[in-house]
Amino acid sequence: MTQDSRLKTLDYLYCAVDKQKRITIFNNRKLKIRKKGGVGNIMEITITSNYDEMSKVSAQLIAQEIQRKHDIVLGLATGDTPVGTYKELVKIHKEEGLDFSKVKSFNLDEYLGLAPLHKNSYNYFMWENLFKHININPENVYIPQGNIKDPEQFCIWYEEQIKKVGGIDLQVLGIGRDGHIGFNEPGSSFASRTRIKALYKQTIEDNARFFDKMEDVPRFAITIGIGTIMEAEKILLIANGKNKADVCAKFIEGPVTSQITASALQLHSYVNVVLDKDAASKLKRTEYYNWVRDNKHLIQKEIGR
Ligand code: F6R
Repeated sequence: MTQDSRLKTLDYLYCAVDKQKRITIFNNRKLKIRKKGGVGNIMEITITSNYDEMSKVSAQLIAQEIQRKHDIVLGLATGDTPVGTYKELVKIHKEEGLDFSKVKSFNLDEYLGLAPLHKNSYNYFMWENLFKHININPENVYIPQGNIKDPEQFCIWYEEQIKKVGGIDLQVLGIGRDGHIGFNEPGSSFASRTRIKALYKQTIEDNARFFDKMEDVPRFAITIGIGTIMEAEKILLIANGKNKADVCAKFIEGPVTSQITASALQLHSYVNVVLDKDAASKLKRTEYYNWVRDNKHLIQKEIGR
């Protein structure tokens, strides 16, 4: 079987989108796979029964990647969604010795204006929820600095650091109700790089739960761009809860549009989406996703692995 027909088989079996999109994605993936030498070709949707299972499944996926490549470069997200995933990773580290000593990590974003030790900063979040519980080398931790004097210069520097380490191997993402990944709000360019972004009204309202007063909620953030995210070798997006159901249906089964920036992931060559059943409740092709997931052995048999 030639490489091209193998890709076609995989694309046909895995790609859970309509025909037109499948063609676009296939062309796009083929280019990316050829350039990178072949990393696979999937957009796999896993629907779990609840938040705990979503956290376990996603942590297992991350742990497998760390075991596969000890000096992996991770892209990490904050927010409510990954708290359980990070807890599970800490557990795997403590109980099974998962080694983070060579891992490098780049966080997606940080509120502009917040000092790293501010209790609402993403820097604080990451240390509290993950880093202080594992054996990561602090020198390998990169998080945008919210109170930096020259944020624009900082954004350029941040992109350079990602390039220097050879790019992100596995990007972990949550999703906002307006479809943002990182803080790439509706209308963000798919070519965007790390930059300062004004937060959307809905995002400000959603984030208000962490602050004492509405006036304290930051209006701006430093965020990695969609272009940067799309260059990651693999992507893992997690989402839970009924309030994410609409946006999950839109980004997985709707058109690719900068109005839902997560929909850009349809154009990526390797995406795992892990949802709980509430977040998946408005998907139309659930049966198909479950079938594909449960019948991977048939696909492997088909392509002779
Ligand atoms: C945070 C980030 C955001 C969140 C999103 C969902 O680093 O990148 O895109 O993932 O706002 O937040 P939660 O998980 O709190 O619903």
